[in-house]
Amino acid sequence: KKEYDYLIVGSGLFGAVFAYEMTSIGKKCLVIDKRNHTGGNIHCRQVEGINVHAYGAHIFHTEDIEIWNYVNNLVPFNNYVNSPLASYHGELYNLPFNMNTFYRLWGTSTPDQARAKILEQTAQFAAIRPSNLEEQAIKLVGTEIYEKFIRHYTSKQWGRPPCELPASIIRRIPVRFTFNNNYFNDRYQGIPIGGYNVMTEKMLKGIEVRINTDFFRDRPYFESIAEKTVFSGRLDEYFGYCFGDLEYRSLRFETESLNMDDFQGNAVVNFTDQKTPYTRIYEHKHFEFGTQPTTVITREYPMASARTAEPYYPINDVKNMQILDRYKALKEREQNVIFGGRLAEYRYYDMHQVIASALHTAKKEFRLLSVNKSIHP
Ligand code: FDA
Repeated sequence: KKEYDYLIVGSGLFGAVFAYEMTSIGKKCLVIDKRNHTGGNIHCRQVEGINVHAYGAHIFHTEDIEIWNYVNNLVPFNNYVNSPLASYHGELYNLPFNMNTFYRLWGTSTPDQARAKILEQTAQFAAIRPSNLEEQAIKLVGTEIYEKFIRHYTSKQWGRPPCELPASIIRRIPVRFTFNNNYFNDRYQGIPIGGYNVMTEKMLKGIEVRINTDFFRDRPYFESIAEKTVFSGRLDEYFGYCFGDLEYRSLRFETESLNMDDFQGNAVVNFTDQKTPYTRIYEHKHFEFGTQPTTVITREYPMASARTAEPYYPINDVKNMQILDRYKALKEREQNVIFGGRLAEYRYYDMHQVIASALHTAKKEFRLLSVNKSIHP
């Protein structure tokens, strides 16, 4: 018998939830991570008593009561509600698009007035079949909202103008005809009290974890020490990039401590004009209603991804999906390896989705183990 039941590559939400579940039924896990900390992309750095979201703003939201109870049993969540603002050449508007936004744009004070205004700008495009993202957005919300909030923001995000992007990126644009600035429609939302690290540390408590440890540095050794490997790193890297790279958009973060108690009065401001080079500023203390005398902000700049940059958003275009299919075929042939999480599946997952996926994977393992036990008692 090998030393560990599971070698878990990656201590992000997928790896941590899986390790937590398998340890709870007495399995021996080793979790490794190539970074110098655990938690993957939900990791926070403490700066002057403020939890700084090191890999971009993370707001937990879900419709699923079981997932909400699961995370709250690990750590209680606060009642933060995400209500971002858009800044267009210094003018501030509420997001998501709702009656507050329309009032500020057009002075419309009733839903009927706002609907009529949007209709005025979309009517001529109603019969058009959009061939790109620009046409799709104008068809859905009209020229003015497109111009002020979507056009330049999207160009910055994807590094290409919307007229060169597929219409499929935006299927619908949520528009609300109430004065409600809550960004999410989900019933449950919040931030763990004390930060995300409390949650991952709770899951990994008592489990052997090695940070600064890259699976590929000593692959034969790691493959020899456990009955099964759970891999939550990059799928293309696992197979030596043999079919080429699965491409991502990346981000660069510029974080600054400021000697003032409040910089922008809100956790998230999106910059939707073309002259501002970054897409967002987060002011981290507002996620946790912080009252510290100083503040920390992060400017987020989208950028192209190379193998050396952090992979963030998968580019799910035809070319990459074809490459993915080829890797998926190889994956099916791997013995005793479980692939999971956003990098190994090459898909964008929200936190509640990755937790659900890890729980589902663990349940499958439980079933497999109990079947094996009844065959080989
Ligand atoms: P994750 O990337 O967290 O973990 C993988 C781990 O594997 C990493 O720690 C990595 O170092 C490690 N690893 C990789 N290769 C390795 C190797 N060879 N050897 C050892 N270790 C290796 N979701 C949400 O619900 N609300 C939100 O507001 C946001 N916000 C958000 C902002 C941004 C900018 C992004 C990109 C994403 C979000 N998300 C989000 C999504 C959220 O980040 C995501 O669901 C989880 O972090 C995914 O967890 P994983 O475990 O899959 O990956």
